[in-house]
Amino acid sequence: MSAPPPRVEPGRVARVREALATVLAPEQLRVDDAALAAYARDESDSGVHAPDLVVFPADTRQVSQVFKACAVHGVPFTPCGARSGKSGGSLPLHGGVAVSLERMNRILSISPEDLTAVVQPGVITGDLMKAVEAVGLFYPPDPNSWEVCTLGGNVAENAGGPRALKYGVTRDYVIGLEWVLPDGEVVRVGRRTIKGVAGYDLVGLFVGSEGTLGVATEITVQLIPLPREVLTALVVFPSVLHAARAVSAVLAAGILPRCLELIDDVALRAVNGRGFQFPPGAGSAVIVEVDGNGREGLLAELSQLGDICTSQGATETLVAQDASQREKLWAARRVISPALRALKPHKISEDIVVPRSKIPEVIERLKAMGAELGLTVATYGHAGDGNLHANILYEGAHQRPLVDEALRRMLVMTVELGGTITGEHGVGHAKREYLSLEQSPALIDLQRRLKAFFDPSGLLNPSKIFPALMRS
Ligand code: LAC
Ligand code: ZN
Repeated sequence: MSAPPPRVEPGRVARVREALATVLAPEQLRVDDAALAAYARDESDSGVHAPDLVVFPADTRQVSQVFKACAVHGVPFTPCGARSGKSGGSLPLHGGVAVSLERMNRILSISPEDLTAVVQPGVITGDLMKAVEAVGLFYPPDPNSWEVCTLGGNVAENAGGPRALKYGVTRDYVIGLEWVLPDGEVVRVGRRTIKGVAGYDLVGLFVGSEGTLGVATEITVQLIPLPREVLTALVVFPSVLHAARAVSAVLAAGILPRCLELIDDVALRAVNGRGFQFPPGAGSAVIVEVDGNGREGLLAELSQLGDICTSQGATETLVAQDASQREKLWAARRVISPALRALKPHKISEDIVVPRSKIPEVIERLKAMGAELGLTVATYGHAGDGNLHANILYEGAHQRPLVDEALRRMLVMTVELGGTITGEHGVGHAKREYLSLEQSPALIDLQRRLKAFFDPSGLLNPSKIFPALMRS
């Protein structure tokens, strides 16, 4: 691996700390070892990079003051939320100030008349989902970590999730933002109406900007009516290839479930018995979920889906009979990532996307690659939209060169098949050296200039997204 990024000079840190102490209460500024260690990591397994201090602004004005202080003293600053990101987007690579938005965690309003909600960035995604569902509304984006991740983080990464298949991702729901620019200026972008085309679409640019163009301090999302009926089933297959072919066949038949989640053999073994027991002999499985307002129609859809899967070799279709069975199934799905982590000391989790017709091919090629390199590759995830979590499990640092080779091959293969290197986790720190597999030097340069326009000093979340050295 390359040398660690240079850290900010201690004198600057001391000066910014002094300045921040004048705008924040003592408990809003931490320098203790526990805090520095906690804010040095995320869920990407892409290194440990401690900040020099962690701050917890309570409102927009304080966020702006923190940014301004960092600019004055030339100290890098990196926003973060729940630190559940999978691309290292919130890692303070050069030290400096970690700006946690977690205390700005209020749902400001939910409007059933306008079908909108306004939230602060530190609101836990699951809390918003539950609050809007209580009044018959639906916020569909459901990143797997919804129990802990925050809306601010979802905005930064343009998070997806299982339901993206039918309902789209975070960007499809965010209509307005209060945004603090890197120099501390506060702007409102977007709108609170459903339609609106005035000016450039800066909401579209800021959502998914991975904490490199500023941060959201207020987020307005549009909501939709909550579907009255949801049916969930587990379809069991002898092998992952059978399951992948069934996913393609379902989509080709013109059915659009809200989720089609694939679980391969390695992932299935990892979660089996952890609160959920797969039928004996199961080699792979797909969680299928359909929703709508008429139960009869949904039952017919699920039965058609079951028939297609059977014709592709499915051995069993188990329909969840009540909410508790449904929840057990989804709990098993949510636990895949930690369960895989428990199999080997290290894991990297990719989120490649391929055109849906290529799902069986990419699965086959990933298995072959793992076998050739002697690495365990587990593939699961949002197969319905072609977004697969291909995980490489490994023993330790000595295997990292091999893992990097596997990762490179995986991403090359993905791009060759017409896909993209990241569907929902972002490029961040973990994949920046691979962006040029997918994007031309001219396009990367255009984006670097955009970053420099918003952040000429380059102090906001440095060394993310774009490769350290341009490759031709
Ligand atoms: C998931 C995360 C890894 O879907 O995105 O489990
Ligand atoms: Zn995912």
